[in-house]
Amino acid sequence: MPEEQLLEEARQLIARSQAMVALTGAGISAESGVPTFRGKEGLWKNYSPEELATPQAFARNPLLVWEWYQWRRGLIAKVKVNAGHLALAQLERMVPDFTLVTQNVDGLHGLAGSKQVLEIHGSIWKTLCAGCGETRENRELELELPPRCSRCDSLLRPAVVWFGESLDQEIMALATAAISRCDLMIVVGTSGVVQPVASFPFIARDKGAAIIEVNLERTPVSSISNLVLLGKAAQLLPRLVPP
Ligand code: OAD
Repeated sequence: MPEEQLLEEARQLIARSQAMVALTGAGISAESGVPTFRGKEGLWKNYSPEELATPQAFARNPLLVWEWYQWRRGLIAKVKVNAGHLALAQLERMVPDFTLVTQNVDGLHGLAGSKQVLEIHGSIWKTLCAGCGETRENRELELELPPRCSRCDSLLRPAVVWFGESLDQEIMALATAAISRCDLMIVVGTSGVVQPVASFPFIARDKGAAIIEVNLERTPVSSISNLVLLGKAAQLLPRLVPP
C-alpha cells in the first residue's frame, strides 16, 4: 500500500482537475472475480487468444468461440461491482468533464453508476450480425449456440473487438477528443500493452496532462506517470475520493 503522502498528492491532483479521463483495464474488475487476461490466473493461460478472440477463429469454429463467450457471460453475470468501480462513478460526479475509457467488455462500470463510459473494446452483452451488421443488446445466458440473426439468419458474433480488428471509429473519436482535452488521466488495472489503447496515456502526457497509475505492479505507463500507486484498485481508488 502506498504511503499516505502519495495518496494525498493524488487527491490534490484530482481536486484540481477540470477534465479527467479514467482509463481502465481488466485489473479494475479483478476483485469482482472477473479473470484478467495476462495475470497469473489470466484467461489466456487456459485459452489461447489466437484460438478464440480473432475473426479467423470465429470463421473456423463459431461454436467453440461462442462457448467461451457464454462461459465468460455466465461468470460476469454472477459478479458484483467492487469499490473501485464505485469510486470511479463517484469521481465522475465530482469532476466537471469526466470520461471513462474502458477496455473491459463486462459492463460493470455502467452497473456501478458511471455514465460517460466509452467501451472501446465493445460489450460482451451485445451481439453483432456477421451478415446485416445489426448490433443488439443480448443478455441471454441460455442461447442456442452459435446464435443466428432473427432478421437475416446469418451468424451472430459477440460485439467485441478481436485481435486484428480496428476499433469503432466513432468511439475512437470520442476517446481521442477526451484524451486531448484532459488535464489528468488515471490509468487503472491495465498492462498497457494492447494498442491503440496503450498509447493513450502517452498522448495525454504529450498534451500536458498529469498521469496517475493504479496497478498491482509497474507497467510501461509507470515511467511517464506523475504518481504510481501500487496496490489493489478496489482498495486504493476509494481512498482517492472524498466520502
Ligand atoms: P491485462 O490482463 O493485460 O492486464 C491486467 C492488469 O491489471 C495488469 O497490469 C495487472 O497487474 C493489473 N491488476 C490485476 N489485478 C489488479 C487489481 N486488483 N488492482 C489493480 N490492478 C490489477 O488486461 P488489459 O490491460 O485490460 O482486449 O488487457 C487489454 C486487452 O487485452 C483486453 O481489453 C483484451 C485483451 O486482449 C481484447 O479482447 C481486444
